[in-house]
Amino acid sequence: MEPDPLATRLSAVVGDAHVLTDPSLRASHESDFTGRWVGRSRLVVRPADTAQVAEVMRSCHAAGVPIVPQGGNTGLVGGSVPDPSGTEVVLSTRRLTALGPIDVAARRVTVGAGVPLAAVRRHVASRELEFGVDLASRDSATLGGMIATNAGGERVVRYGTTRANVVGVEAVLADGSVLDRLAGLPKDNTGYDLTGLLVGSEGTLAVITRARLALVPHLPRRVTALLALDSLDAAVSLLTDLRRLESLELVEFFTADGLALVLDKSGLPAPFRTTHPVYLLVECAGRRGPAEELADALEKAPAREVAVARTASDSRRLAAYRERHTESLNAAGIPLKLDVTVPLADLPAFAAELPALLAGRATPYLFGHLAEGNVHVNLLDVAPDDEEAVTEAVLGRVAAAGGSISAEHGIGRAKSRHLHLTRSAADIAVMRSVKAALDPDHLLSPHTLFPDRD
Ligand code: MLT
Ligand code: ZN
Repeated sequence: MEPDPLATRLSAVVGDAHVLTDPSLRASHESDFTGRWVGRSRLVVRPADTAQVAEVMRSCHAAGVPIVPQGGNTGLVGGSVPDPSGTEVVLSTRRLTALGPIDVAARRVTVGAGVPLAAVRRHVASRELEFGVDLASRDSATLGGMIATNAGGERVVRYGTTRANVVGVEAVLADGSVLDRLAGLPKDNTGYDLTGLLVGSEGTLAVITRARLALVPHLPRRVTALLALDSLDAAVSLLTDLRRLESLELVEFFTADGLALVLDKSGLPAPFRTTHPVYLLVECAGRRGPAEELADALEKAPAREVAVARTASDSRRLAAYRERHTESLNAAGIPLKLDVTVPLADLPAFAAELPALLAGRATPYLFGHLAEGNVHVNLLDVAPDDEEAVTEAVLGRVAAAGGSISAEHGIGRAKSRHLHLTRSAADIAVMRSVKAALDPDHLLSPHTLFPDRD
C-alpha cells in the first residue's frame, strides 16, 4: 500500500515514532474511557513543542484535513475522539510536558498542555502552593484538556472553575499561527480577552499548547467528613450553613444507590452500619481550626450520621466513596451521561421528578458538586432507541428550570443538538461568527459544538 503522504509529511516534522498509523497504536486515541464514543482516525500525531504543533497545523491546513486535539482523553462528551470516517487527524498534546519554574512572588507557573493535573499539583507542592482546581481524574486529565473544557471539579466552591485559575495561554490556530497570551499579567486591558475566549472552547478554536496558572497557598490543616442525611432538601439546607465557613473547600453529594454500586464494584467497606438516602462529602482547609469550624457547624445543623477522617488514608477512603462513582458506573455498563446545572432551590424537585421523566426507560444515578447545583445524571440500562427521548426529557426539564445543559463537561458531540435549549439565537450567532473567524475552513474539532458549518 502507498504510504499516506500526510503521514510522510508529519513524520518529517515530529519524527516517525510520533506519527501513529497502525490501528493497534491508534486505538487508545480513538475511543473514550466509557466506550460510548468510538471513532477512527486517519492517523495520530504527537508533536513535542509549540513549533511542531504549528507545523502540524500548517500541514493539515494546507491539505484541508480536519484535526481533533486530544489531551488525556478523559472528556465525557465525545469531544476528544475522532468521528468514524477515518479522515480526521488526532493531535495528541501529551508530549507537551514542560513544567516551568514556580514564580513564588507572583504565585504563577507555566506548564505544557500535556501535563497531567496531578503532576502540576506535585510540582507546586514543593513551594507550599497549590493549583485551585482538582478532579477525580487528576492522574490522567491534562491541563490543556481541562482548559479547553473549562473543567470544574470538586473545589469550585472555593476556587472557581479552571477559567478562574488560568491567567494566560499559548495556542495555535487552525492555520498554524501562534497566539501568545502567556504573560497573563494581573493588569492588561489591551483589547479582547483571548485567553478567556479559548477557555471552554472545546478544541474548536485553537490547540492550547501552554498555560500560565494562578496558584494558591497550601493550607496546612484539613478535615474530611462524610455526612449521612435524610434527603436532598436536607443537603441543600445544610449547604446554606456550611457556606458560612471560611474554610469550606468541597461539598460533594451522592445517594444510596450510587454508594451501593461503588461498594459493589470497589469492594470498599460501607461507611456506616445503615444506609441513608443522601451523603455529603465535605472538606474544609485552613491555617487554623478547620476541624473545629466544621464540628461547630454540624452541632448547629446535625446530620443523621457523621464519619470524620482521622488519618490521610481515612480521608482518601471517604473521598473514594464519591470519586469512584465514575469507574463503578463504567464497570456496570456504558452510562448515558448528562452533566447539568440545576438552580439549587430546584434541585430536590428535579431529583424527585426524575423517575417520572424517565418513565422506566433508565436507571438513574445522581451525584456531583452540590454547591454549584452540578448534578451528574448518569443513566444505565437505556435502550439505544430511547437515548434521544430520555436526553431531551432531562435536558428540557433542566432548561425549563433556568439551569444549564452542560455544567462542566462541555457540549462536545453529545449535546450539540441541544445547545439551543440554554443558549439564545443571538448567543449562537455570535459563537458561530467567532468560530468562522478563527477557523474559516471548519477544520478544528469539526464535530464538536457546531457539527454543521452554517
Ligand atoms: C465527576 O465529577 O466525577 C465527573 O465529572 C462525573 C462523571 O463521571 O459523570
Ligand atoms: Zn464532575
